[in-house]
Amino acid sequence: MVESTKVNKGFTVWFTGLSGSGKSTISCLLEKKVQERGRNVEILDDDVARTNLGQYLGFSKQDRDINIQRIAFVCKLLTRNGVACISAAISPYREARENARQEIENFVEVYVKCPLEICVERDVKGLYKKALKGEIPGFTGVSDPYEEPLNPEIIVETNKETVEESVNKILKKLDELGYLEPRTPATPVYTPDEEKKVQERLSRLGYI
Ligand code: ADX
Repeated sequence: MVESTKVNKGFTVWFTGLSGSGKSTISCLLEKKVQERGRNVEILDDDVARTNLGQYLGFSKQDRDINIQRIAFVCKLLTRNGVACISAAISPYREARENARQEIENFVEVYVKCPLEICVERDVKGLYKKALKGEIPGFTGVSDPYEEPLNPEIIVETNKETVEESVNKILKKLDELGYLEPRTPATPVYTPDEEKKVQERLSRLGYI
């Protein structure tokens, strides 16, 4: 008798949100949690994509669209081969995100919602300060558009919930959609130790 092998369902969690909204932080914890569920995970963030997927791209609409197309292409290939993908680019344009949704199987859009004032306050990379002085033209949310998703699978509100709460929301949805193997009693969502580490990291990053 041939033993049936379990095939992991690939999926892409597609984050979208302003710079400093918390996409990278949530991605890191999500990656860890999904790995703990026995999955191979790839994160495609702005650095990975813009540094490795072809010629230099700026931040015009055209360049951002190309950036998103490239990320979507990689997510599509990985997803159809069973990988859990996480895209963490701003992806400010609705149409580009919709195109990605059409291309990629098991696409889960997560709106990382955070008021602009809070992102400006956090100013993790010091870019808002420059953008507000006019030193960075076309900065998302300041002098360039950000189109909120109309119907994302999940909304996380990073000024109102902890990273753990946001990640749990996403894991719950992935469970509901059947994209993760059932949790065993031995896999808690997080231990107090992990929670402490995440809080420390967030504090270092200036999120709390
Ligand atoms: S996207 O618009 O094409 O999705 P992406 O996520 O790759 O953007 O890159 C965003 C990151 O680039 C920001 O978090 C910020 O660090 C940096 N950045 C530099 N210039 C800009 C700009 N004009 N608008 C937004 N982000 C910028």
